[in-house]
Amino acid sequence: MPYRAPRGTVDILPEEQAYWRYIEQKVIHITQLYGYERIDNPVFEDAGLFVRSVGEGTDIVQKEMYTFTDRSGSPLTLRPEGTASVCRAYLEHGMDNLPQPVKLYYIAPIFRYERPQAGRYRQHHQFGYEAIGDDDPALDAEVIDMAWRFCHALGLGQLTLQLNSIGCRQCRPAYLAALKDYYAANGGNLCADCTTRLQRNPLRLLDCKQATCQPVADAAPRSLDHLCSPCAEHFGNLRRYLELLGLPLVLNHRLVRGLDYYTRTVFEVQPAVEGAQSTLGGGGRYDDLIAELGGRPTPAIGFATGIERLSLNLKRQKVAVPALPKPGVFIVYADEKSREEAVKLAAALRQAGVSAVQAFGVRSLKSQLRQANTLAIRYTVIIGEAELKTGTVVLRDMSTAEQKTVPISQLVSLLHAVNL
Ligand code: HAM
Repeated sequence: MPYRAPRGTVDILPEEQAYWRYIEQKVIHITQLYGYERIDNPVFEDAGLFVRSVGEGTDIVQKEMYTFTDRSGSPLTLRPEGTASVCRAYLEHGMDNLPQPVKLYYIAPIFRYERPQAGRYRQHHQFGYEAIGDDDPALDAEVIDMAWRFCHALGLGQLTLQLNSIGCRQCRPAYLAALKDYYAANGGNLCADCTTRLQRNPLRLLDCKQATCQPVADAAPRSLDHLCSPCAEHFGNLRRYLELLGLPLVLNHRLVRGLDYYTRTVFEVQPAVEGAQSTLGGGGRYDDLIAELGGRPTPAIGFATGIERLSLNLKRQKVAVPALPKPGVFIVYADEKSREEAVKLAAALRQAGVSAVQAFGVRSLKSQLRQANTLAIRYTVIIGEAELKTGTVVLRDMSTAEQKTVPISQLVSLLHAVNL
């Protein structure tokens, strides 16, 4: 077979769909509980939107975007994250005139040219949500609470909630200067990536996963010690609200996130199983982004989690998800004449709301019954010459192999009576 799914992409096969449906249903429930409305944005946007928002110096913009020119020569990028598109739409559709904050969520495919491994793909899917238009730390607490409750509503356990504040435009420059000074004095044998980060994106030095860089990063100056007083007050209030909500947060001074738009609050949900690719979800404030994109200064905060990672963790933690409904009835037939009856009966059952499938082609009754067994369908309806003559069918319960002859006119009510 000459074609395979592109590297880093996967087919979400029918057996996987129960997890996806389960997660989607939890998404619908939680977003409704917290008052979010759904938005769907295009899969591609002007490349500039992401360069501007995610940030020139980030791994995403430097190495991971799928950017192409279309036939008119416009540079477009397959969405490498969801926040920028939501902000673009917020401005484009005048949502700044609505009561604030505007709360929007999405489930969307995301594209990043990354080195594929378990839980890391070149196409993945995110459930994300954004609350745009308020800087109240109570909103931060609500957004964090929703992320935490969502993961638990799925049945996931042994999670930690990590929190940091990385300050704002006012206080961050002094912090970055302190960080650079510290690394200049202490970072004798940094990894190659950190050497670049020191020049291009010093905050990301704290995020390095290389063993040799850990001691230096651990002892680095902490952003929390360099917050200006409005940021410190915001963070203090946020902690108070999180305490009120009983959220077991862990301060992590090395939590900085991989996108440049963040200000103040940043947070992540981590599962117990360690590993570079284990983060279940992350988010934070981005108070400057809407203005960056041409709007009035508008504070905002959001969160996103990868559906594939959620699904992986559901399996790792052996969370049982409900099976998807199967058709209730499989119709088999003995000959050409009864096949006509099977076609009519399948249509009649569906019209009556009973999910039914039928055999096709010229095959022995035995092989059709074998198919019914393989499909694990609850009932088989058998139509043969004798049944045609008497206006009946044979109804077979596949789990007990019990079968009885019933008038075709009573079939629907019999099936309804067994909840089909
Ligand atoms: P992010 O941390 O880059 O944040 O991605 C969010 C989540 O998407 C990750 O925690 C992870 O679960 C999943 N994810 C990311 N990359 C991959 C990948 N290559 N394969 C599988 N899953 C992946 C954002 O994208 C921000 N837009 C989140 C946000 C929303 N901040 C504010 N609002």
